[in-house]
Amino acid sequence: MVKRRRLTVILSVPGAEDLRKPDVVVNKFPDGELHVRIPGIARCRDRRVVLLQRLYPDQNTSLVETILLLDALRSVNAHVTLVAPYLPYARQDKVHLAGEALSAAAICRMLKRAGVERLVTVDCHFLKREGDATYGGLPITNLSARKQLVKYARRTFGARPFIAISPDQGANYMVADLGGRSMRKKRGAYAAGKIAYRSIREIKRSFDVQGKNVLLIDDMISTGGTMLRAIDNLRRGGALSIVCAATHGVFVGKAHRLLTAKKVRVITTDSIANSAAKIRIRDVLHRAAVI
Ligand code: R5P
Repeated sequence: MVKRRRLTVILSVPGAEDLRKPDVVVNKFPDGELHVRIPGIARCRDRRVVLLQRLYPDQNTSLVETILLLDALRSVNAHVTLVAPYLPYARQDKVHLAGEALSAAAICRMLKRAGVERLVTVDCHFLKREGDATYGGLPITNLSARKQLVKYARRTFGARPFIAISPDQGANYMVADLGGRSMRKKRGAYAAGKIAYRSIREIKRSFDVQGKNVLLIDDMISTGGTMLRAIDNLRRGGALSIVCAATHGVFVGKAHRLLTAKKVRVITTDSIANSAAKIRIRDVLHRAAVI
């Protein structure tokens, strides 16, 4: 009897242990450079390989790790789908000052050239919609955790009705099918100094929230500035209780503490490990039959 060969090989990289036990070894050379090895490389020959990897924190190192792993996989002619729930460098999708890199496109081009045939990611900032797209020449499947976040928030609100609002237009796709609304956010110029940060000039709203419970939902919380400004706006408008939900909890510095000090509930997935994580990203990937 001929044994059926598995068509797809799944490889997991250290850091994605909760998704699957790692099959890749990552060590360091004495000078700190990465040494990667895929002990089971032989079974990847001519196969479709799904590479599961967390690219944050340590995004710069993780991306080098990806490039090295792709090189090993290229040597056996593997067809690689990279599954990275959070895609770093996705936020600079516009050039604001002459001479800036368009980081989002640069990273996608780099992954494509290094051998990624498809990237599967979740609530990717620059795509601003769910589904398949091509960016920087890289075919991407953008999943969304919005259904899981909304389901969790629904339990938090209990019997109380709520409206779903995104703090900017970019995350409108996360509230659209709930009949939700979006605020408008404008950023200003870069602040002086070494941290490239464009402060929020204003967050505006053209709809009423008086006496309403609100689920504020976004693709990510980084410094928390967007959510904090949106919360202030909603409170001024007479909103009742507010739940802040985001797919990716980056939570730079005191972001999480500043948000909870506003007496709001904060919910994220564990695409990036953090103390507000309530939704397992593996369930989002599993639902989409990725793993
Ligand atoms: C940007 O438009 C994104 O959708 C988020 O609103 C933003 O990245 C959140 O960043 P922060 O928490 O620093 O305001």
